[in-house]
Amino acid sequence: MKALILVGGFGTRLRPLTITTPKPLVEFGNKPMIVHQIEALVKAGVKDIVLAVSYRPETMVKAMEKYEKDLGITIHFSVETEPLGTAGPLALAAPILRKDDTPFFVLNSDVICEFPFQDLLLFHQAHGDEGTIMVTKVDDPSKYGVVVNRDHGASSVIERFVEKPTEFISNKINAGIYIFNPAVLNRIEERPMSIEKEVFPFMAQDGQIHSMELPGFWMDVGQPKDFLTGTGLWLSSQARKAPETLATGANIVGHVLIDPTAKIGPNCRIGPNVVIGPGVVIGDGVRLSRTVLLAGSAVKDHAWVQSTIVGWSSTVGRWSRLENVCVLGDDVHISDEIYMNGARVLPHKSVGANVSEPQIIM
Ligand code: GDD
Repeated sequence: MKALILVGGFGTRLRPLTITTPKPLVEFGNKPMIVHQIEALVKAGVKDIVLAVSYRPETMVKAMEKYEKDLGITIHFSVETEPLGTAGPLALAAPILRKDDTPFFVLNSDVICEFPFQDLLLFHQAHGDEGTIMVTKVDDPSKYGVVVNRDHGASSVIERFVEKPTEFISNKINAGIYIFNPAVLNRIEERPMSIEKEVFPFMAQDGQIHSMELPGFWMDVGQPKDFLTGTGLWLSSQARKAPETLATGANIVGHVLIDPTAKIGPNCRIGPNVVIGPGVVIGDGVRLSRTVLLAGSAVKDHAWVQSTIVGWSSTVGRWSRLENVCVLGDDVHISDEIYMNGARVLPHKSVGANVSEPQIIM
């Protein structure tokens, strides 16, 4: 089987992390985001994965070599000379997607869930039409694609698809995970084209697209606040599926993932919803909650870090207090006894003064 992941974009919403690392390679749960998707696709029998990119992918190509080998798959890079949107990349990769008559998966690269691809395939084969969209329910559907089903919602056939509606239509949204028969490629041209605006509405008119409710959690983790929320949801799911992978002990509260190479000092209180990456060093009496510490970072004695992403090789000084979705880029250094409220700090900066209101430190 085949799949295409829409990697595109520059990941501006996940800055400053994406200034030094392409978004799909930013670690989520101590693993590059895209690897969660690739591993799940492989489990469902996918052998050919197209990564559709609209920028020079050297770093990605290098990082993917290991996974190609380890997982025994082929990863194809489909590089656009101009951004082709969310549909155009399918036309560009058509020679691979049409390789055989089997359906193929398509994914937005920012979404995290339990990726039930096998169930999606079975559901899709059972109805036999051109495509299936996985849907989930959210409180605020206005920033997503919204789906309305036929027969007042009783049918799986989609009656209407509206991208980012300005009025409330439904809270059932496009989760950014699809499966299509190769026939869908007849609807798509190799030009900048939106699958949400120029393909789905017409498939709905023709009664050729169905929705399948996604079981379990779902999150678009393309921005820092959602990245932290998604981390909490993913940890809860891990606690059910693979509890042995999570940390336990007197200093652990709720769900916490700690890389075995991390070093943690005495008298800390860690959790809930914390991920600690490889080579991280945590001092004495540190308090962490709803926080991600990326590889090689350090949090010094008695610091208090909440709702924060600490970038690779960055340090948080002693007795510092970070909260309200702070994001430190790569190699950022925060002095001792600093207070930071919602600060985004660009890579390679040192911060020696308090940041009392959310702002970008350049
Ligand atoms: N290759 C390529 N080229 N990929 C692209 C391009 C492009 O020109 N433009 C966007 N993408 C990728 C993005 O990287 C992302 O993975 C996906 O296509 C969706 O792009 P966005 O344009 O960022 O859409 P969105 O996040 O606002 O909304 C989409 O996702 C929602 C779920 O999170 C839509 O598909 C919505 O309908 C959906 O509900």
